[in-house]
Amino acid sequence: MSVSQGRVPVLAVEGVSKHFGSVAALRAADVEVFPGEILGIVGDNGAGKSTLLKMLSGIHAPTEGRITVAGETVHFSSPADARKAGISTVQQDLALVEVLDVATNLHLGDFPRRGLLVDRKKMERDATDLLKRLNVRVASVLTPVGSLSGGQRQIIAISRAVRLKHAQVVLLDEPTAALGVQETAHVGEIIENLRAEGKAVVLISHDMEFVFKHADTIQVMRQGRSTRPRRVSETTRDEIIALITGAKQE
Ligand SMILES: Nc1ncnc2c1ncn2[C@@H]1O[C@H](COP(=O)(O)OP(=O)(O)OP(=O)(O)O)[C@@H](O)[C@H]1O
Ligand SMILES: [Mg+2]
Repeated sequence: MSVSQGRVPVLAVEGVSKHFGSVAALRAADVEVFPGEILGIVGDNGAGKSTLLKMLSGIHAPTEGRITVAGETVHFSSPADARKAGISTVQQDLALVEVLDVATNLHLGDFPRRGLLVDRKKMERDATDLLKRLNVRVASVLTPVGSLSGGQRQIIAISRAVRLKHAQVVLLDEPTAALGVQETAHVGEIIENLRAEGKAVVLISHDMEFVFKHADTIQVMRQGRSTRPRRVSETTRDEIIALITGAKQE
């Protein structure tokens, strides 16, 4: 059974390649993301997962192929373009500014303003409300991000992605990499809530247990190529691992 079943993906890449000089990071990859679903993307180090995400979030332009949003071809020339199109992202390196406080980091790229000035009070209020809604505990939204633990930073970066109200798609690159058991479960809840709100989630992760727990569909990337997406209910960990290592070829 095809994963798409004639539905229009909210976000898709078709035949996308990306070269960095002589390195082919992506080779004609195809990926489709549907509303209200979680797509897990897995693969070995260097398989091209982060490169794919960076194209979807406006950091890199594809060398070949096209990106579509709700069936329309798009050309992102910046992360702001992708955000405007409803794509919200947590990059693998988190992209937080350590010297700035939590409230400011949560609003990077779109500060609330009063006239020409940043509305600090509103920013702090919104940050506090957001963290409360997501059950995230930090001492204060005035704490500089540089003094938080790796796990807390990760949760702040995820909170920032979730903050974008008009986001139709949330892209997460290794969201649980630095997290303990409880924090990982917390991220799981946040992702499930996004799905319940009808958003599409792309979850890149090496944590197979987490992916199998939350994803509806899993797609393996290998040496820049995408494999056919599999419904979680129709695959096994053994099959996915065989696709990752290349023991199973398509
Ligand atoms: N900016 C860049 N310049 C040159 N080569 C790059 C660049 N970004 C990625 N690459 C190369 O592209 C390939 C894919 O890298 P990518 O970061 O997408 O892998 P990944 O699947 O995210 O790996 P990991 O699981 O380790 O995060 C690698 O060979 C990498 O060295
Ligand atoms: Mg990566």
